Amino acid sequence: MITSFAPGRAELLGNHTDYNAGLVLSIAVDRGVRLTGTARADGKLLFRSRELGQAYEGSLDALAPSAEHPWANYLLGVFDEFRRRGLAIGGAELEIASNLPLGAGLSSSAALETSTAFWIQQAFGHALPPLELARIGQASEHRFVGVMCGLLDQISSIFGKAGHATFIDCRSFEVRNLPIPANAKFVIANSGVKHSLVASEYNQRRAACEAAAQAFGVPFLRDVDSRRLEAEGGALPPDVLKRARHIVGENERVAEAAGLLARGEAAAFGQLMFASHESSRVNFENSCPELDRLVEAARGTPGCLGARLSGGGFGGATINLVEAGAEAGLIAALEAAVPGTACLVTSAADGARIEA
Ligand code: GLA
Repeated sequence: MITSFAPGRAELLGNHTDYNAGLVLSIAVDRGVRLTGTARADGKLLFRSRELGQAYEGSLDALAPSAEHPWANYLLGVFDEFRRRGLAIGGAELEIASNLPLGAGLSSSAALETSTAFWIQQAFGHALPPLELARIGQASEHRFVGVMCGLLDQISSIFGKAGHATFIDCRSFEVRNLPIPANAKFVIANSGVKHSLVASEYNQRRAACEAAAQAFGVPFLRDVDSRRLEAEGGALPPDVLKRARHIVGENERVAEAAGLLARGEAAAFGQLMFASHESSRVNFENSCPELDRLVEAARGTPGCLGARLSGGGFGGATINLVEAGAEAGLIAALEAAVPGTACLVTSAADGARIEA
């Protein structure tokens, strides 16, 4: 019996920067997905989701996305990626248990992919570099789920460290863990709003960023700074210019925020979170009225240092940076601002691992 565990993540700062070869700060949260099971020699794939009360049956020889059990695709895609890399694997019987709320902006999808990748490599005796495991999760999401995501979610789930933020340079893939000030806590507020077109909106934003980079003659928006953007961006279609403004601004904010964290300046860090949200609202247009109300409510709450949407956007969750002791007041304010909002307090936790 092998058990793997991978946590969810929260994006602290750096929105949609990952696929622009940019900078991002995240944490692994203290909840995640646990897979327990045994390898099978007959190539069968049997998955059971404890929370959904559903079972999937398939086989390694017929790996294809399942329309009937979309949740199984997060595992199937990972099995497929090991095979595409020519890595020998067998079948598996797995039970999935998760204490991560689904669709709450904590990337339960990457946690499931990462847990699967850790489980497979342990079961079939591989030892891939952690970054390669993250790439397997990302590629499986591209092929089996259809979201052209970057690497933020998977890297955060793998490289997270208790009490630390994870700083990721998505060009060099340098990953550093920076200590979080001891009295800073995180509240995740899940608005419960889920827009049906998230995948296509996400992919459209990515395409706009790529178009902007191309117009500047650079491989990625990471290569453009705000001075150049404002001096030369006038030739871009107005929407594309706004998308680029968000990415360029986010990269600059993350660079500044990493320095603030190193100096323990939580209040100034929080101001950058508010600025990030404002840019999502105005430039990237990946917020929604409910998330805007949550951020406004946070701004007016004593002890709340910063708030912004976390993750892809178009619904989902906000992350709030709050002084220890002010969590309950903040949660009450958020739940009053957007009825149906579900809040949880998390600290920064350790990344994925084999448990047994
Ligand atoms: C989703 C994607 C990530 C990243 C964020 C936005 O979580 O999976 O790769 O692009 O959105 O920063």
